[in-house]
Parts: sequence; C-alpha cells; structure tokens
Amino acid sequence: MKPLRIALTKGRLEKDTVALFEKIGYDCTAVSKKGRKLILPIGEHRFEVVLAKAADVITYVEHGVCDLGVVGKDTIMENGRSFYEVLDLGFGKCRFALAGPKGKDFFSGYSAKTIATKYPNVARGYFESRGMDVRVIKIEGSVELAPLLGLSDAIVDIVETGTTLKENGLEVIETICDISARLIVNAASLKLRKKEIETLVEQMEQAKEGAV
Ligand code: PRP
Repeated sequence: MKPLRIALTKGRLEKDTVALFEKIGYDCTAVSKKGRKLILPIGEHRFEVVLAKAADVITYVEHGVCDLGVVGKDTIMENGRSFYEVLDLGFGKCRFALAGPKGKDFFSGYSAKTIATKYPNVARGYFESRGMDVRVIKIEGSVELAPLLGLSDAIVDIVETGTTLKENGLEVIETICDISARLIVNAASLKLRKKEIETLVEQMEQAKEGAV
C-alpha cells in the first residue's frame, strides 16, 4: 500500500504536528533532520510528509495529491472549500482581530474606512456581517505597517501574543474569532482509505488529549 500523504504547513505548525506524531510513536527523524528535502517519510514509511506553505496545503489536499493536511483555521477561512475538516488539533492557537492605532475610535465618523489585511475574504465577511461598507487593501506581510504609514485606518490580522501590535502603537478593537490548527482530509481519500485515515485521526485525537 502506498503511504498516506500528509501536507504540513511549514514552520510553527510543523513543529507541533511532529511532536504529536512522535507522541503517537511514529518515528519523525526524517523531518527533524530534513535539510532541504520537501517530501519525507515518517512512521516507517506508512506516511509521507509534504512541507508546504499554508495556502498550498489546501491546494494539495483539494486536488487529492495529498490525502491529509495540517493547516490553520485562518487559511481555511480565507481559502478553503472542498475538503473535510476532521479535527481541531488544539495547537497554533491565536485569534483574528480588528486592530488599529491605540486610543482612536475606529467606529466614529461617517466616511468609509480602509482596512489592510492578508485575509481580504475574512475581512470583507466580517464587515458585511456588521453591515459596514469598507475598502479592503491586500498586504502580503507585516500588515501592522499599513496604519503606521497612513495606508489604512485599521487592520484585520492574526494576533497571538499581542506583542507586534503593542510594539507598534496598535491595539485590538474587536476580536473576530479564535483560530487553531486543523486536520483536513481530501474527500475521495476519506472514502478510498477510510480505515487508515480513521485510525490516524483517532490516534491524533488521543495524543492531543494526552491519552497516549
Ligand atoms: C503574524 C501576524 C502578526 C503577528 C502576530 O505574522 O500577521 O504580524 O504574527 O503575533 P504576535 O501577536 O505574537 O505579535 P507572521 O509572523 O506570520 O509574519 P508576517 O505578517 O510577516 O507574515
């Protein structure tokens, strides 16, 4: 049987996922000593880990070239559609927030506000639900710069510790929702390799609860 392929978001989520696999008892040496390799065997070749950027994890799982994926709820909310979200992994915890210059009343005044964000769909959805008309500008990184440079009135971004906001004179205006890492599964894989996938999901769930 060919190995189950799992797309992993590189970086912070990668470390926590590897720790979870190790807790189950799968050997992850190939990932911890990977060098520049991007497809790595774990658990005695029962699984193959593919390291990718968050949005690409979704693309690979949607297209079925990876059976499973580990990705943040933020990326799912911004991009995701056709796959199953089967488990909240409980790590990678942070929140989506509307933030702006400290002490400034964002909701005052009548002119339409400008929002900078890496997550235009999330930002539009949030303001639509509040019945507010805003202009959304997409920024690729360090979104906190936008209000500092006078490009936007506020930002919609991820807040983890709050340090980036604090060190740049910004503050949370409103929390939009909580975020954490999720396990996602390709729809066809879930049918064709049901047993293996269900076993892995169960193992991950138990390891997460500390039962392994
Ligand atoms: C994220 C987010 C904030 C920061 C929040 O950025 O966009 O900038 O982390 O973390 P904090 O609340 O702990 O300070 P990331 O590190 O992904 O970098 P980027 O914005 O340059 O993509």
